[in-house]
This record gives sequence, structure tokens and C-alpha cells, in this order.
Amino acid sequence: MPSMKRSLILGGTKGLGLALAKESAERDIQPIVTGRSVEEPNIKASLPENAIRIAMDLTDDESIDKAMSVLEYDAIDYFFWNAGTWPGRKSFRELSPADIDNITATNFTGPLKVLHRFHEKRELQKKPYHLIAISSASAWLIRKNETVYCASKDAQAVFVLNFADELALELPGSHATIFYPGGMKTEIFKDTKQDTTGYMEPLEVAKAVWNEVLNQKEVCREVHIIRNKEKNDGSFTLEYGPKLRGIK
Ligand SMILES: NC(=O)c1ccc[n+]([C@@H]2O[C@H](COP(=O)([O-])OP(=O)(O)OC[C@H]3O[C@@H](n4cnc5c(N)ncnc54)[C@H](OP(=O)(O)O)[C@@H]3O)[C@@H](O)[C@H]2O)c1
Repeated sequence: MPSMKRSLILGGTKGLGLALAKESAERDIQPIVTGRSVEEPNIKASLPENAIRIAMDLTDDESIDKAMSVLEYDAIDYFFWNAGTWPGRKSFRELSPADIDNITATNFTGPLKVLHRFHEKRELQKKPYHLIAISSASAWLIRKNETVYCASKDAQAVFVLNFADELALELPGSHATIFYPGGMKTEIFKDTKQDTTGYMEPLEVAKAVWNEVLNQKEVCREVHIIRNKEKNDGSFTLEYGPKLRGIK
């Protein structure tokens, strides 16, 4: 019998990542979930029954090393670069150096280090994989007081756009997908005053994400998940391809 497919979900303990893990299990793809809080009892209880948990803090190199030493590289078919942090609306001046480190390490450099290790191993094994990046509409929209967050989400998207061909060349049969969602009802807004009325439900978004991923034939696809702001009822539509940056 062929072994079960697996997905690796960076930041699979909450919000969209948790929904992606649930939807993965629904589709008979066993999720491997990472995050700082994987062993918290309420988080453990919320994960799919067959989820594999790996504690990993993306801002801490030692924690990344430890997590990577237990990861079963060869069994992963889908690599979700999903973890992210949002500092709330603050001017650039108001962000501390620690805030800047936290945003860039969680949203960009930490996941890059994980992917680098993963990719090296897969190259040795000659095993293709599907890389999925959860970027944001913040990558191309101009938003007030979100400078470093927006820049980190664009950096993530541009990295994957550039890496996709390299990946497919080195490991034929590989794919990359970049998603740019609008507002979702998740814990990213927990300690902020953000009004999330009319924001999208993470489970609905996760279903759309998995449908796109499993139907993709081309090497690289960009998918915008556009919230219907007029209806403001959580509904959304999908749009494809590059978007002009700098739209207000
Ligand atoms: N919510 C939105 O409106 C929205 C819109 C567009 C794009 N996005 C993007 O969607 C992705 C998921 O965000 P979300 O809204 O679902 O947020 P969320 O509910 O706050 O979940 C964030 C996830 O990232 C993990 N994470 C945060 N800091 C981490 C760290 N230092 N090390 C390891 N993992 C860490 C968290 O795990 P632990 O807490 O267990 O570490 C959690 O699983 C992010 O990339 C975000 O930029 C969100």
C-alpha cells in the first residue's frame, strides 16, 4: 500500500494554519504542524487527531535546528509557508528594533532557513515537492502604518516567484503557489483593536487554498483571495496572476 501523503504547515496551531491542517486531514493528507504552542493542551486538543506536532520558534535558530532534527524530510509532499505575525498599526518610528526582528524573522528569514534545510535534503533525495506561500494582499496594497509587515509579505511572495523555476529545474515535478488573502478572522488580530466584522472565515479560505493546490498543473501560480467588501459577509472571489504594486 502506498504511504499516506503529508503536509508540513509552518504555523499550523492557529488561524489559517490550523484550518489548513484540518482541511489537510479531511483530504487524507497527514498534517505535520509546527509552532511555539504545539504542546499547549487547548492547541493539542484543537488539532486533527493524526496531526504530528513539532515545536518550533521561527525567531530562534536553536529551536529551528532542534525541530529540523526530528522532521522526516522525505515524507512531505506539501510545504506550507504560513506562519506570520502582525504588530498592529504602528508608524515605522513606533516599531522597536525587537519588533522589526520579530516581524522579519517570523514572516521571512526564519521560514527561509527552514525551507533552505528542507530543500537541500530533498535535492539529495531527488524528491519534488509543492511549496505554498501564504502571503497577503498587503504585499501589493499600500496600507497605513504597516510598513514592515507589508514589506515582509512582499519579500516572501517575491522570493517564491523567483524560486519557483529554480525548484522545478532542480526537482522536476515540483510546484509553487503564492496566495494573497485579504482579511481573515484569525488570532493575528488578538491583541489589537482591529474590527474583523465581514472578514473571511479561515476554514473557507483553507478549502479554497487546498482546491487550488491540488488542481495546479503549471509550475507557479499566483492566487488572490479577494474579500467582498461591499457585501461584507465574509464571501470572497479568486483572481489570478500578478497585480500592480502600490495600489491604495
Ligand atoms: N488574518 C489575516 O487577515 C491575514 C490576511 C492576509 C494574510 N495573512 C497571513 O496568513 C498567515 C497566517 O496568519 P493568521 O492570520 O492565521 O495568524 P494567527 O492566527 O495569528 O496564526 C499565526 C500562526 O503563526 C505561528 N507563529 C507566529 N509566530 C511564530 C513564531 N515566532 N515561530 C513559529 N510560529 C509562529 C503561530 O503559532 P504559535 O503561536 O504556536 O507559535 C500560528 O500558528 C500569515 O502569514 C499572515 O501574514 C493573514
